Amino acid sequence: MTELLMRESRFISDQQFQQIRDWLYQRSGIHLNATKKSLVTGRLYKRLTELDLADFDAYLQLLRDPQQSKEAEMALNLLTTNETYFFREPKHFEFLQSLITRGELQKRVRVWSAAASTGEEAFSIALALAGQFGLQDPWQVTGTDINTRVLARARAAVYPLQDSQKIDQALLKAFCVKGVGKDNGWFRIRPEIRQHVQFQQHNLMLPLQTTQKFDVIFLRNVLIYFELEDKKRIVLNMLDVLKPGGYLLVGHSESIHGYDPRLVQQRPACYRYQP
Ligand SMILES: C[S@@+](CC[C@H](N)C(=O)[O-])C[C@H]1O[C@@H](n2cnc3c(N)ncnc32)[C@H](O)[C@@H]1O
Repeated sequence: MTELLMRESRFISDQQFQQIRDWLYQRSGIHLNATKKSLVTGRLYKRLTELDLADFDAYLQLLRDPQQSKEAEMALNLLTTNETYFFREPKHFEFLQSLITRGELQKRVRVWSAAASTGEEAFSIALALAGQFGLQDPWQVTGTDINTRVLARARAAVYPLQDSQKIDQALLKAFCVKGVGKDNGWFRIRPEIRQHVQFQQHNLMLPLQTTQKFDVIFLRNVLIYFELEDKKRIVLNMLDVLKPGGYLLVGHSESIHGYDPRLVQQRPACYRYQP
């Protein structure tokens, strides 16, 4: 492409940006605010050049083409924000621990990491449960996300060694393996832990199909991407699959206060379902 063409194709008009916002909203419920224009351009422009497309109109046409569902998946993967790390917001893990100590969570406990990203949250929960119950008990963690790229990384369960710093040494030693040779600088979650954790794609705007309800749901650092009515809808979807007496945990910068009278706040970012 000539330099002039490159500059033109990199330009995204307000109308094109609005169409991308609408498209993303329909697919995921995510509300991109107006300040995200340059972020969207940056994330999608690379695809435009890879596909040798003239401009964002051509890309939008592709996204709307039902024959091009792989491209739509790719765009969705590019547009979600997936930051996460092991034992993020440690107060929630202390709370989980306290529930186990006081016998509220038993060895059959089921926990849902509802915006799991690359899996660090689901594996942090699994490591905490393994530390308490061991590996023989039938506890289970389900991790879901709308983004198929991050789910593939979660299933691989391999992480940079520096990311292990937040993991308790005893848990790290017991349930993770440090890479050697070509895997130097990486660590892997042991298969015995991974057997207790399953990942699947799920859009939070829809109800989750499951035969068994959960004792605890982690819905952290994701509600920020939605508008109020959609946040409420997502929380209601959670209540459909949360056991009475179960807990819903949200990010500490998020509040669902007043969303539903059946949710009773126990401590910051931690609600009990009392129908
Ligand atoms: C910032 S990460 C949070 C990860 C983790 N819960 C944590 O607190 O560290 C937000 C995740 O929500 C996912 N997400 C966004 N919209 C979603 C939707 N409609 N359904 C399911 N997952 C969604 C994104 O793909 C992303 O991986």
